[in-house]
Amino acid sequence: MTDAGVAHNRDDSTATPRESLLVAENIIAGYVPEVDILRGCDLVLQEGELVGVIGPNGAGKSTLLKALFGLIPVRSGTVRLRGEDISNLPAHALVSKGIGYVPQNNNVFQRLTIEENLEMGLYQAPKRFLERFEVVAEVFPRIAERRKQRAGSLSGGERQMLAMARALMMDPSVLLLDEPSAGLSPALQDQTFVRARRINATGVSVVMVEQNARRCLQICHRGYVLDQGRNAYTNSGAELLHDPKVVELYLGTLAKVK
Ligand SMILES: Nc1ncnc2c1ncn2[C@@H]1O[C@H](COP(=O)(O)OP(=O)(O)OP(=O)(O)O)[C@@H](O)[C@H]1O
Ligand SMILES: [Mg+2]
Repeated sequence: MTDAGVAHNRDDSTATPRESLLVAENIIAGYVPEVDILRGCDLVLQEGELVGVIGPNGAGKSTLLKALFGLIPVRSGTVRLRGEDISNLPAHALVSKGIGYVPQNNNVFQRLTIEENLEMGLYQAPKRFLERFEVVAEVFPRIAERRKQRAGSLSGGERQMLAMARALMMDPSVLLLDEPSAGLSPALQDQTFVRARRINATGVSVVMVEQNARRCLQICHRGYVLDQGRNAYTNSGAELLHDPKVVELYLGTLAKVK
């Protein structure tokens, strides 16, 4: 699909304030004791938003998603969902509160069929399978058509789609996507952005970490630039795309900004 398939920058700065759905405030987190990878990160996701997170390798983007999803301890700071403190709740509790997460790697069960993978996504509410399958099949028809096929036989791009489809099965209100376009051909990369937008259009608020920073900023409502575990820049996607400092430091000086 070409660029025309995706709506471009939407600047919501004039919209009336909406309820904050997910708020991470001053997050300090890491893996090894006494080594903080996130050193005071903030992130706000409003209801209905698609928020992009970009930044250099090792900036802490994946770590931020893991901290939001309870996979690593939040040492200091808070994560709130609709005002409720959810910091350090385990991932399964966050899933039942409506948060979905698609990790950067190893995100499907290769030996299981597509259908079984989708069932795993719905393990907390198995009776809803058919109802959710219909919704997910609309966004991912190619995946749904091949429900009896083993996930291991899918291409990289198709697996990425299946991972997103599985997270959608739970009918999340928040979806955390870690590098959905990584390792894919340009055409397939574009597909993942189109799908992320489509998922967002169904009412799911999305936080998307992406290496394809330019494309990410083109489609997100707001973007965060992380650098060395801290927020470096935050603005609408459009503003960040045209911010000379962001272009110079994070988007490449030789790259053209359309
Ligand atoms: N499991 C782990 N144990 C220890 N350190 C880790 C672990 N995972 C990541 N790190 C360290 O945390 C830092 C941030 O890593 P993270 O994966 O969050 O970066 P990123 O911004 O997602 O980078 P990339 O763009 O390469 O995916 C890096 O220095 C990395 O080495
Ligand atoms: Mg990462």
